[in-house]
Amino acid sequence: MMTDSVLPSVAAGRRMAGKVGLVTGAAVGIGKAIARRFAAEGMIVGVNDIDGAGVRAVVQEIRAAGGQAVELVLDIGQRGNMHDAVQTLARAHGRFDVMVNNAAWVHYEAIPAITEDSFSRMMAAGFASVTWGTQAAAQAMGDDGGAIINIASGASFLGLNNAMIYCGIKSGVLGLTRAAAVELGPRKIRVNAVAPGPTWSPTTAAVLPPDKARNRADRTPLRRIGEPEDVARAAFFLADTESAFVTGAVISVDGGLTFAYQ
Ligand SMILES: NC(=O)c1ccc[n+]([C@@H]2O[C@H](COP(=O)([O-])OP(=O)(O)OC[C@H]3O[C@@H](n4cnc5c(N)ncnc54)[C@H](O)[C@@H]3O)[C@@H](O)[C@H]2O)c1
Repeated sequence: MMTDSVLPSVAAGRRMAGKVGLVTGAAVGIGKAIARRFAAEGMIVGVNDIDGAGVRAVVQEIRAAGGQAVELVLDIGQRGNMHDAVQTLARAHGRFDVMVNNAAWVHYEAIPAITEDSFSRMMAAGFASVTWGTQAAAQAMGDDGGAIINIASGASFLGLNNAMIYCGIKSGVLGLTRAAAVELGPRKIRVNAVAPGPTWSPTTAAVLPPDKARNRADRTPLRRIGEPEDVARAAFFLADTESAFVTGAVISVDGGLTFAYQ
């Protein structure tokens, strides 16, 4: 993990005061960092995950820091659950502004080992959720428009070993992002993606032992593994009016790794 002196901190302001939004898969890692950042900027944040204890801990942390957060323990791979989550926030607070489709379930396996179960679970958590999240957000957003941010991956661009479904889903997330940007642009709804490289989260820690992490950092132009807060900064930019004329775009937050040839 990097120290604060290496990670320049951006002082949180109140640029999202009065806004309402939802972050999926926000019990840990990148989703949690985005939820915390958005709450620190004044947004009322729906904290979603299937991990109930994790959701409660994040909501408590946000409230203890003076922010506003709502617990939404639901499987957002199901269309009805996603619509319920967005409608719960929109009805309670009278508006809906920001949707972050972050949740995913990743299972690395060789092609012969892929089962209907693992395929369906990955598709539901990582692709159906983005579809339903976009649909539900577009329905709830008003005349002011809004921002939809989809969390893609370096795997959106690359072929990774034992990750055919994951690479397919994450490439698909970029296609979905571009198509939604075209369709929703006239309603002032901007749809963009962030593509993290390797980033510290419980999932990463489980699959990236220290020697592999060092090797990965050495091959990264900026010479470190990402922190969830790095991704949260890019998500904040895409949610904020600073990116008012950006839609259908993808920002890689990977220290330069994805497109480095060395
Ligand atoms: N961490 C990385 O190195 C990395 C790199 C590239 C892209 N990403 C992407 O960033 C996003 C977050 O990754 P992470 O590593 O921080 O998180 P993670 O994979 O550790 O956790 C994802 C969260 O999503 C939740 N989730 C899974 N299925 C769900 C469902 N059906 N409904 C609600 N919640 C569900 C899980 O419970 C978990 O809390 C994912 O889309 C991932 O693919 C991560």
